[in-house]
Amino acid sequence: MEKIVSLAKRRGFIFPGSEIYGGLAGTWDYGPMGVELKNNIKQVWWKKFVQNRDDVVGIDAAIIMNPRVWEASGHVQTFTDPLVECKTCHERFRADHKDAMVEHEQWHIKKKESAVWSEARQFNLLFRTFVGAVEDSASQTYLRPETAQAMFVNFKNVLDTARPKLPFGIAQIGKAFRNEITPGNFIFRSREFEQMEIEYFVRSGEWEQHFDYWLGEMRSWIAMLGIEKKDIHELKVPKDELAHYSKRTVDFEYEFPFGKKELYGLACRGDFDLKNHTKASGTELVYTDDTGEKTVPYVIEPTWGVDRTVLAVLLANYREDVNEKGLRVFLKLPAILAPYKVAVFPLVGNKEHITEKARGVYESLKSHMSVAWDARGNIGKRYYSQDEIGTPFCVTVDYQTLEDDTVTVRDRDSAAQERIALSELRSYIQDKLSI
Ligand code: GAP
Repeated sequence: MEKIVSLAKRRGFIFPGSEIYGGLAGTWDYGPMGVELKNNIKQVWWKKFVQNRDDVVGIDAAIIMNPRVWEASGHVQTFTDPLVECKTCHERFRADHKDAMVEHEQWHIKKKESAVWSEARQFNLLFRTFVGAVEDSASQTYLRPETAQAMFVNFKNVLDTARPKLPFGIAQIGKAFRNEITPGNFIFRSREFEQMEIEYFVRSGEWEQHFDYWLGEMRSWIAMLGIEKKDIHELKVPKDELAHYSKRTVDFEYEFPFGKKELYGLACRGDFDLKNHTKASGTELVYTDDTGEKTVPYVIEPTWGVDRTVLAVLLANYREDVNEKGLRVFLKLPAILAPYKVAVFPLVGNKEHITEKARGVYESLKSHMSVAWDARGNIGKRYYSQDEIGTPFCVTVDYQTLEDDTVTVRDRDSAAQERIALSELRSYIQDKLSI
């Protein structure tokens, strides 16, 4: 984990939020490499689950919603975690995070003190804010803690405009905010994060078959990330631990270095949300079929955290390779996720005709994919630098290029080099980028 955090900082993937002011707990900023990786994850997801399908449409809703949304959804009443405080040092913990509490007790014992715990109380994770110039209870609302509710609130709008037939889904990617008691483990648990969610509406009698289908879709997504099957565990959440809306939940847990923890979730929310919003808003959220029969669909909800995906992708694809030249660190990222698809180098940086030719290759690729340019230092260092950020291919323009219009293409994982004609270079790379 330390290696990943250090690489993320050093190579511009992820920085602590507001760092020059000492940071802000539970917030992280994505740098030049991080934003590319994160955007690629979101784009691949959108392509797979929205654009490539006939039965899912997308929305992009406001983060600040009418506070009545969060009353109807149950979040105002029940979106809580149990909080305890150590009365000795006033540090706060989640009462259900027993390992952290035991660790804290031992820390006090080492200092010849003891931790004294307060009674647990329920702490609501909603971030409160005010809309407009007056800060009173009438203007209070919340930053959304999940993207899901916007799909229910817009159910009728989507039905009226896109006219989908059951079963169908509404998808969204966007920010969510939770005032976590103990953010931590790098970007695993933060207070501001992103989700990719689908609310998939089905006939109530058919929910189990759709639930199984989405289990398969989530497995196929995970396989696309370079995560090994053995590092994923599917946990059927016991009935007494289900969220207030859920009929069945399966958590996809990943073997993080700090333990087996939730990466994604799949839940059957039944008709809980549509019925509650119908009751609270007075707008009937029902599906009418061709015969005029009305039904309140059940909802299957696959949900993916974007930041946890970034973390799992970095961890799963981190490689160290010791060879005669020393240690080589590389990110074996699937090419579709890599921040740069290719890097272009002139073999030597001080020969104008080679640099000019290489610049031409760089420009010709740039309008088709993200390309890095590097003319500094020696070629070995440039390769290692691209390996660390996961660039799948490095193209070198050399003296031979000037004679026969071929370049060397070096593969990140094997470090093997091939000579390719410039006329074939783009399709050679693009073939490896399609999903
Ligand atoms: N709409 C359902 C829902 O929000 P959730 O299990 O609370 O379910 C979904 O959250 C996903 O969001 C999680 O599986 C995880 O990937 C991500 N997530 C939740 N809380 C997070 C946090 N504090 N920091 C980063 N990601 C988080």
